[in-house]
Amino acid sequence: MKNVVIVGTQWGDEGKGKITDFLAGKADVVVRFQGGNNAGHTIKFDGNKYALHLIPSGIFRPEAMNILANGMVINPKALLEELAMLKKNNITQYNLAISNRAHVLLPYHMQLDQLYEDLKSNEKKVGTTKKGIGPAYMDKVSRIGIRMADFIDEETFYDKLNDNITYYNNLFKLYGYDQFDVDNVYNEFKEYAKDIKELVTDTSLLLHKYNEEGKKIVYEGAQGNLLCIDHGTYPYVTSSSPTAASVPLNTGISPQFITDVVGITKAYSTRVGSGHFATEFDNDVAKQIRTVGNEFGTTTGRPRRIGWIDTVVLRHSKRVSGINHLSVMLLDVLTGIKELKICVAYKLDGKEIDYIPANIKDYNRCKPVYETLDGWSEDITNVSSFSDLPANAQRYLERISELTGIQLSIFSVGPDRTQTIILNNII
Ligand code: GDP
Ligand code: IMO
Ligand code: MG
Repeated sequence: MKNVVIVGTQWGDEGKGKITDFLAGKADVVVRFQGGNNAGHTIKFDGNKYALHLIPSGIFRPEAMNILANGMVINPKALLEELAMLKKNNITQYNLAISNRAHVLLPYHMQLDQLYEDLKSNEKKVGTTKKGIGPAYMDKVSRIGIRMADFIDEETFYDKLNDNITYYNNLFKLYGYDQFDVDNVYNEFKEYAKDIKELVTDTSLLLHKYNEEGKKIVYEGAQGNLLCIDHGTYPYVTSSSPTAASVPLNTGISPQFITDVVGITKAYSTRVGSGHFATEFDNDVAKQIRTVGNEFGTTTGRPRRIGWIDTVVLRHSKRVSGINHLSVMLLDVLTGIKELKICVAYKLDGKEIDYIPANIKDYNRCKPVYETLDGWSEDITNVSSFSDLPANAQRYLERISELTGIQLSIFSVGPDRTQTIILNNII
């Protein structure tokens, strides 16, 4: 039995999709446990590139079972569009199941997302993906959410939809936003419910059975630990927890089942949306990283903000998620940069600290303390082992592992599945 959790250690887009797809080659089951189509996970193999938003990155492995677990918020229309995209690309051999406890994200959630952002002053805007994620989770904790089990029962779906649209239309009216017509939404979405009904099941029972059978399970996080609703840079976060700690709750497995946690990090840092980013910089080197690393959002196309790698952030993620394997991605993007900086601590009002302050005003004043390492100029996109790397690239990886106290188990030198080097077997 193996239960391996993949988490983003930064602010998302670390390359979780790539590593999930890679490890899925040896796994029996792949589970997405939180978030919704705010995520954008890129997978590249055999000359083709795919962007997934809701569907787990194990979908390209015909033998694997892919599960959308109870912790997710699922826009059924977006899910069906994603399935249609797979079909168009001749990806038809797969196994998929959806938790009957997952929440359904509906069009009014997207309009609420827009409204709540519009109501905020510029510096308070979160910079959400506008996919309706926050409002869908708000409904969940307010106990008015519509779960998959309700959605596939026409009577219950209509009843709850009617309550919610009636309620939110008052708010939309107040601020001059579009009104929703219950019957229109119902008639459109009940057809989507019919299309996915067969896939909806109790996935906690399934996962329990798989564990009893000794199967190998990979849990694919969305976003990154610094976007966690509890342990992230609140309020500039998403509305779920991408930590490994959220896996048991969001999938219905025992916490005792988790065997390994793989922390995915870029060899540098990026962030999309608002919020303090201590190691951010914007000069020609940042432009080079953005261009070479294709640092534009998979979901929204926004240019990603660029920064040096921040080991305060990585140690924070290690602590809250129990990371025991490190996977350093996009190392190739740093090729040709003369000097590489690694943030080893923060300076807050003249004092050196090794944590992320909870008070956002304090965090905003945190300045990075850097160590500088020499870069390398050799092309590394074809290396197949650690010893193939130029000495400075080896040193860079070693230093990140030393500063985080996490063993380096994977590094990646390009977007393709084949450009993945495994140093320690995880699954
Ligand atoms: P995720 O959200 O964590 O799955 O990451 P994204 O897919 O949003 O962003 C990661 C980006 O980096 C994608 O465009 C990947 O194809 C790409 N990528 C992943 N690993 C590497 C790598 O080692 N080198 C390069 N150049 N690109 C990579
Ligand atoms: P993956 O899984 C990067 C960011 C948004 C915004 C904040 C809140 O591809 O790593 P939300 O729409 O969730 O309410 O937005 O979180 N964000 C992401 N940034 N990668 C993601 O997912 C993200 N999902 C949300 O930009 O700052
Ligand atoms: Mg992404």
